[in-house]
Amino acid sequence: MTGMDRPRRLRRTPALRRLVAETTLEPRQLVLPMFVADGLTEPRPIGSMPGVAQHSLDSLRKAAVEAVTAGVGGIMLFGVPRPEDKDAVGSAASDPHGILNRGLRALADEVGGSTVVMADTCLDEFTDHGHCGVLAADGAVDNDATLARYVEMALAQAEAGADLLGTSGMMDGQVGAIRRGLDAAGRLDTGILAYSAKYASAFYGPFREAVASSLEGDRRTYQQDPANRREAIRELELDLAEGADIVMVKPAMAYLDILREVADHSTVPVAAYQISGEYAMISAAAERGWIDRRGAILESLLSIRRAGADFVLTYWATEVANWLS
Ligand code: PBG
Repeated sequence: MTGMDRPRRLRRTPALRRLVAETTLEPRQLVLPMFVADGLTEPRPIGSMPGVAQHSLDSLRKAAVEAVTAGVGGIMLFGVPRPEDKDAVGSAASDPHGILNRGLRALADEVGGSTVVMADTCLDEFTDHGHCGVLAADGAVDNDATLARYVEMALAQAEAGADLLGTSGMMDGQVGAIRRGLDAAGRLDTGILAYSAKYASAFYGPFREAVASSLEGDRRTYQQDPANRREAIRELELDLAEGADIVMVKPAMAYLDILREVADHSTVPVAAYQISGEYAMISAAAERGWIDRRGAILESLLSIRRAGADFVLTYWATEVANWLS
């Protein structure tokens, strides 16, 4: 071995390592997903996601201010209606007085000028059957009838002040339908964050508690099969052609290969969603002292950035942004 074959030379001191680090983690690259629930006066903790809660409108505002003060790049809002407000078509999703639209208005009012306000544009929290769309007579999710509902929901969210709409339902044509609906209503400035490659994942488990999901069964007729790689690129190309402003891969850590591939092909910014099960796994192992919490969180986020995400949705966004600044 000569003096030339020694990569350890650049790892010798913290200063050298800092100088040659390829990937960065900055507060602006972190987006905080938040939950606002109808009828709460106090935040309600989510058992399977320690440290995460369903918010009341008041506590939503406060937590949003903390996130923005920490420097996060954006907030993604999910709404949790009262059980009695769920119905077959998810009416509360497009109701201007529905909890998600009220929450969006509160966020736009409180932090709209200083961060990006994003809305989950999907019906599953609002339907009594828990699916991401409306059902046909045979019980299957009706793609095109669902698109009409997404457009109504999108217009209400744009009206409420959302900057970006997160199309997470995995219906075919959802980005195009929403784009046309927004344009026809003069909402040229409202953007679409397309969940382009979203897989039917077991790691969504804690989220179902977080939004008090009514789902029985699974979403395998619309979310992607974890076995498949090629169709992620097909989904990406369709979403780009339909007008996606940003594309996303979800979940993150079990799909870093997909994320890399999407990042290599995308002509728009790429996001990734570190989902509830990823959060729960690291939290649980750290709670038992089996892994170093802070180290594992930072490494997980860095790996998602390294795989190609420009920004990451993570329930740790505020905490990590505070560590970084
Ligand atoms: C559904 C939706 C899900 C998540 C975000 N939007 C769950 C699902 O598809 O069942 C999961 C987020 C997470 O697990 O953190 N519109």
